[in-house]
Amino acid sequence: MKKIAIFASGTGSNANRIIEHLKASSLAQVTLVLSNNKDAGVLDIAKSFGIPTMVIDRNTFYKTNSLLGVFAKKSIDLIVLAGFLWLVPSYLINAFPNKIINIHPALLPKYGGKGMYGMHIHRAVQAAKEQETGITIHYVNEKYDEGAIIFQKECTIFPEDTAEKIAQRVLILEHKHFPIIIEMLLSE
Ligand code: GRF
Repeated sequence: MKKIAIFASGTGSNANRIIEHLKASSLAQVTLVLSNNKDAGVLDIAKSFGIPTMVIDRNTFYKTNSLLGVFAKKSIDLIVLAGFLWLVPSYLINAFPNKIINIHPALLPKYGGKGMYGMHIHRAVQAAKEQETGITIHYVNEKYDEGAIIFQKECTIFPEDTAEKIAQRVLILEHKHFPIIIEMLLSE
């Protein structure tokens, strides 16, 4: 059985879908949910499934490598970033080569990088009058949104779409594809 740790900073709707999807799986389970935000909804979601949670602070995350011990103890195979806003430090990337993935709600390499998160992305996409947007699932490296792309899926933008409408359409794509791609990566 493969073990997954999820990092998330906010609501956690993607984490929720991933946990749900794998609930009855004999391939993989989410066994730890971490957040930099003690008030993040994702922590309540994890608790409702009986999954252990951890709140991390900047010092622990960037100035120590104590998480490596936590992950080793739990035999974590894959780290999934689902709406996690902090840059992942090198020690973690080096300890999990090609085992850390992220979902980004746009078609990278466009609309990525520092500051491109949440509604900032969808507003920029709308302001540029793009005709399509979508999702990117990619490996994580030391730079925001620059790791190798694993999967992308597009959706159309209609001229009358608000940024909120675009965000909704993209989130539907995330929920549909992220759990399946995770499953696929773990069964390789
Ligand atoms: C998603 O759009 C994800 O792509 C992103 O942040 C959002 C998180 O949503 N980077 P949720 O917390 O999973 O509901």
